[in-house]
Amino acid sequence: TKHLISSADLSRAEVEDILETAASMHDLQRREVKKVPTLRGRTVINFFFEDSTRTRSSFEIAGKWMSADTINLSAKGSSTSKGESLRDTAMTVDAMAVDALVIRHNASGACQQVAQWVRCSVINAGDGTHEHPTQALLDAYTLRTRLGDLDGKHVVIVGDLTHSRVFRSNVITLKTLGARVTVVAPPTLMPSGIGAWSAADGFATSWDLDPVLDGEGEHGPVDAVMMLRVQRERMSGGYFPTAREYTVGYGLTRDRLERLVARNDDVLVLHPGPMNRGLEIAPEAADAPQSVVLDQVSAGVAVRMAVLYHLLAGDDTPAPVPPVTAT
Ligand code: CP
Repeated sequence: TKHLISSADLSRAEVEDILETAASMHDLQRREVKKVPTLRGRTVINFFFEDSTRTRSSFEIAGKWMSADTINLSAKGSSTSKGESLRDTAMTVDAMAVDALVIRHNASGACQQVAQWVRCSVINAGDGTHEHPTQALLDAYTLRTRLGDLDGKHVVIVGDLTHSRVFRSNVITLKTLGARVTVVAPPTLMPSGIGAWSAADGFATSWDLDPVLDGEGEHGPVDAVMMLRVQRERMSGGYFPTAREYTVGYGLTRDRLERLVARNDDVLVLHPGPMNRGLEIAPEAADAPQSVVLDQVSAGVAVRMAVLYHLLAGDDTPAPVPPVTAT
């Protein structure tokens, strides 16, 4: 694989390979060996056209701990703010002999498009409402660390599915690893076309959270609940349900957490962040012993090191510096 654009780019063997590499990286970090020379001489550019805390910093740390030269660019502060097109920007960066371009963009499909213009590897760090494949890998890593093999495990994904690239990538990766998945959203935040997708890929959908959390849904008892952020910045003209209605119907409130834990005190609570505390997740749930939110963040570095390794280390030759045309 040269690019990582969609979680569907990875077979089960490839996902398992990346997660095993991530485990070795994590192991080294636990023994305080943070930096390895594997990507010395390689250049990775993190180009974030949309804001980020976790993904951008963990890609930067991952590149540095692999000994790659890493550079960060954002829309503000680059010539994008002067009106340079995505194509010209991508080709400009590519002409500097970079090995990988990590891109976050607010347009779904932007990474796929860039991959057609450049010679270097392209890694999708979140494109619009489409996909966020490294988030799904770090979530799978976090779940496997606690639950072991995910075959047959039941993961419930709850939230604003219409706007969630995390949900799309997670369903693909979790199904690739053999997990059972139920997705829950209010009807107004359930993506159109999900019926055909869920039928084809074998995951369950529901508008009603409580029976699912009580283990009464199609996939039975729950091993993990992933709460997703209500993405108000992607909703023009307000949103429905209201914040209060959302919390009552779909929030992981203290009461819901207590009911979940009463059924299974090993249940895991995930959230990709950033969290709207008090909206989709109560502080008592975000900070509960069952919460692995910070484990997800910490897994992000090891998993992104593993992704860079898989895309770049197999190729012995760093990107060639293009010749300057003689006149
Ligand atoms: N989960 C996630 O992508 O967070 P950031 O937007 O902070 O990168």
